[in-house]
Amino acid sequence: MVNILFLCLGNICRSPMAEAIFRDLVEQEQLQDKIKVDSAGIGKWHVGKPPHQGTRRLLDQYSISYKGLQARQIQRKDFRDFDYIIAMDDNNINDLQQIEQVTNEVVVAKLMDFVDEPQEVNVPDPYFTNNFEYTYELVQEGCKQLLQHIKSTHQL
Ligand code: 4NP
Repeated sequence: MVNILFLCLGNICRSPMAEAIFRDLVEQEQLQDKIKVDSAGIGKWHVGKPPHQGTRRLLDQYSISYKGLQARQIQRKDFRDFDYIIAMDDNNINDLQQIEQVTNEVVVAKLMDFVDEPQEVNVPDPYFTNNFEYTYELVQEGCKQLLQHIKSTHQL
């Protein structure tokens, strides 16, 4: 089993969007027995809440389920439970390093690291930009490329 955790600041806009899109791609390829997906936030402001309505609107528009998604805060245990922690921006990576020393047991990277010639190196936060469409476009491309990477790395 390959365990992937998407990480953002609040776990209501970008990382649940990535979780839902990636889960959908995994299901389309019938890899759900081999790849487990989750998401978490650095902050605890929105713990227990469903994705932001802007994220839900885009997921609804593309008929992608966000059933069961509820914000949670990252825990130290996640560093042991996951093989990959995929952050949305540099701030997430810096914050992550304050929580726990990152060891070789977990791959920490940004979603845009998996995109060839990315338009952005960080996924802009629509909580502040209000541009959920652009974030969706970037996250969708990132998830597609990340899945290709995971499939070839783990021979799935
Ligand atoms: P996210 O966006 O990190 O993409 O979920 C945010 C959501 C909430 C807050 C910040 C960013 N907040 O400060 O409450």
